Amino acid sequence: MKLNTKLVIIMLSLLVLTMMTLFTLNQYSQNDLVNEIQESSQEISKAVQMSIEDLTSDAEFSRLNDYLHKARKKGINEINIINIEGEIVDSSDPDKIGKRHELNKLEKGVHAAPRHNGASILSQKPYEVVVPVIVGDEHLGYVQINMLLDNINNLQHANFMRRLFATGMVFMIGIALTIFLARRYTEPINSLVEDFKRVSAGDLSVTIPVDSKDEIGELAKGFNNMVEKLREREALEKRLYEAEHLSRVGQLASGIAHEIRNPLNYISLAIDHLKEEMLPHCAGAQRAEMEELADKIKEEVRRANYMVVNFMSYGRPLKLRHALVPYSDVLAKALPVLHDRLTEQRIRLEQRIPDDFPPLWVDQEMLRTCILNLVGNAVQAMPGGGLITLGAERDHDQVRLTFSDQGKGIRAEDLGKIFQPYFTTREVGIGLGLAITERIVREHGGSIQVDSTLGSGTTFTLLLPLERGPHEGNLETHEP
Ligand SMILES: Nc1ncnc2c1ncn2[C@@H]1O[C@H](COP(=O)(O)OP(=O)(O)OP(=O)(O)O)[C@@H](O)[C@H]1O
Ligand SMILES: [Mg+2]
Repeated sequence: MKLNTKLVIIMLSLLVLTMMTLFTLNQYSQNDLVNEIQESSQEISKAVQMSIEDLTSDAEFSRLNDYLHKARKKGINEINIINIEGEIVDSSDPDKIGKRHELNKLEKGVHAAPRHNGASILSQKPYEVVVPVIVGDEHLGYVQINMLLDNINNLQHANFMRRLFATGMVFMIGIALTIFLARRYTEPINSLVEDFKRVSAGDLSVTIPVDSKDEIGELAKGFNNMVEKLREREALEKRLYEAEHLSRVGQLASGIAHEIRNPLNYISLAIDHLKEEMLPHCAGAQRAEMEELADKIKEEVRRANYMVVNFMSYGRPLKLRHALVPYSDVLAKALPVLHDRLTEQRIRLEQRIPDDFPPLWVDQEMLRTCILNLVGNAVQAMPGGGLITLGAERDHDQVRLTFSDQGKGIRAEDLGKIFQPYFTTREVGIGLGLAITERIVREHGGSIQVDSTLGSGTTFTLLLPLERGPHEGNLETHEP
């Protein structure tokens, strides 16, 4: 519900509450007033009736006095019966009997009387009722009733106090509701302000939970959208920066790579030539050794050439040549190159590949590059020797290839950077090994994960999809 609607509802509720309270109180006080007036009128008519009886008969005088005793409670203070000559013939105040009252000073009807001496100034408000007594044609005299309207006064005062209290209560409820509403609105606004500060300080991970449909909810939604857009923009800027950086470095690198291809071609041709010219002159074991050496050099030259081609096209999509190959075959082709380094550094390499491990649908050459990069990094991280374990397991429709070492590990703050091109902590490193590996794995539709503990070792995990059934297709069949 909108804040506006809530405020209007609160105001209307308060208005209705106030009106109902005042209406009820008014009814209540009206009833009280009517009762009071009824009772006072009854007393006055009784007093008048008694006075007329006194004037018209020779009844005992004490009756008036007795009656007044009871009537005082209803506000009647004094009753005087005055005959036509102006003499007070009977009075509730025995001292006044026989005294004279100036007839022209008797105003008939009801009016406020001058205050009597001795009456409390604050509370007593005397009123005088003068009724002429006429029997037939004969004017017998007057009944003068002096009364105090304190009861009514008190009633009104009590009513006023009640109304004051009720209005106060309604206002208190209103204030409490307003404070509650203000708190409900200012708390999320305060937390929004905090979140805004965090975002402006560069933290774009902030997301506000949207749990209301009012203005605050709208604000939170808008804020989340804004942060989402900022995030997208930041990612875009980052990608743009990387693309620019890569393109600049790529241009430089492809120039160098191009130059490297020529000597590589020459070495390859020279090896062929040496094999042809020199090998026939060698004998026995020496010949076999020479031949193996020449083959290794040629293989490495071929690989270097392959890398150069890939390096030159780093900024462009890789051209994968998929084939269904057993993982152990790829390892068998990749690992001999590292053999000497492993022995030199006293590193043991263990393969844990299940017998029923399915063949992989990959570009063999590319996977070989990945393996060499990962094992190469592991070797570099273990100058003191140790064990490198290569694991493999099937996980539903993908395979999991692991490369675990017992090396120095990677610092937590570096973990997010190691796949970035040109990030390296090694003096002679280029920082392209993991970037290329990650790219190759990504182009295969897979992903790469790293798990490292500083000082005790690192495990890289390649997740590759099994796009074809394990035994479908022919092994080593290249895609057309
Ligand atoms: N197994 C590992 N153990 C410890 N640190 C590693 C491991 N693998 C990678 N790293 C860290 O990641 C960084 C980046 O590795 P990457 O292979 O991309 O580059 P590099 O090995 O430094 O250089 P090159 O381009 O020659 O491979 C390394 O410098 C190293 O700090
Ligand atoms: Mg490396």
